[in-house]
Amino acid sequence: MRKLWLGPHGLHVEPAEPGDAEELARIHAQGFFRGWSREELAQFLEQAECTMLVACDARRRLAGFILVRLIGDEAELLSIAVDPKWRGKRVGQALLRAALDDLLFSAARRMFLEVDERNTAALRLYRSNGFVEVGKRKGYYPRPDGSTATALVMAADLG
Ligand SMILES: CC(C)(COP(=O)(O)OP(=O)(O)OC[C@H]1O[C@@H](n2cnc3c(N)ncnc32)[C@H](O)[C@@H]1OP(=O)(O)O)[C@@H](O)C(=O)NCCC(=O)NCCS
Repeated sequence: MRKLWLGPHGLHVEPAEPGDAEELARIHAQGFFRGWSREELAQFLEQAECTMLVACDARRRLAGFILVRLIGDEAELLSIAVDPKWRGKRVGQALLRAALDDLLFSAARRMFLEVDERNTAALRLYRSNGFVEVGKRKGYYPRPDGSTATALVMAADLG
């Protein structure tokens, strides 16, 4: 059965494909100080414990992606990024909801993630989807100016 979730603005969410690696790297680099290469993203696509979903239009032009790793009954949100021109249009919501929905068919009972405590958009996204703070990691993220940022560890029960 093909997995597919409807998204906003005529977009939909579906599993990533090996040929997406280049585009995924472009979107990742626009969202994070240390972008992942095409090769690194291609490796995630090959890992059985990882699920990568993309938000895209009917011509499969990508607007964003989410990457989740499942180990036992714990899922970890490894990355989520939306193309800057699509941000603030509920694409992040659609990706996270699709990933959470997908996990209902798995053994996962809890999902964890780390987020820069100053990342307002991401914090709103996670809080509105049931994530609560369960820990803090000081000095976790390197910043372009050489300083570091604190990560919040968040978790959500998947029921
Ligand atoms: C975080 C990110 C994935 C959110 O995706 P998005 O499609 O822009 O978000 P959405 O439009 O679905 O909005 C999700 C929530 O964030 C809020 N939000 C979106 N952009 C915001 C902004 N610039 N400032 C404050 N809140 C914002 C929305 O209001 C919404 O909150 P609500 O559900 O309480 O109304 C996106 O901003 C991004 O790619 N950032 C760079 C990469 C990143 O930081 N990833 C997270 C790492 S942990």
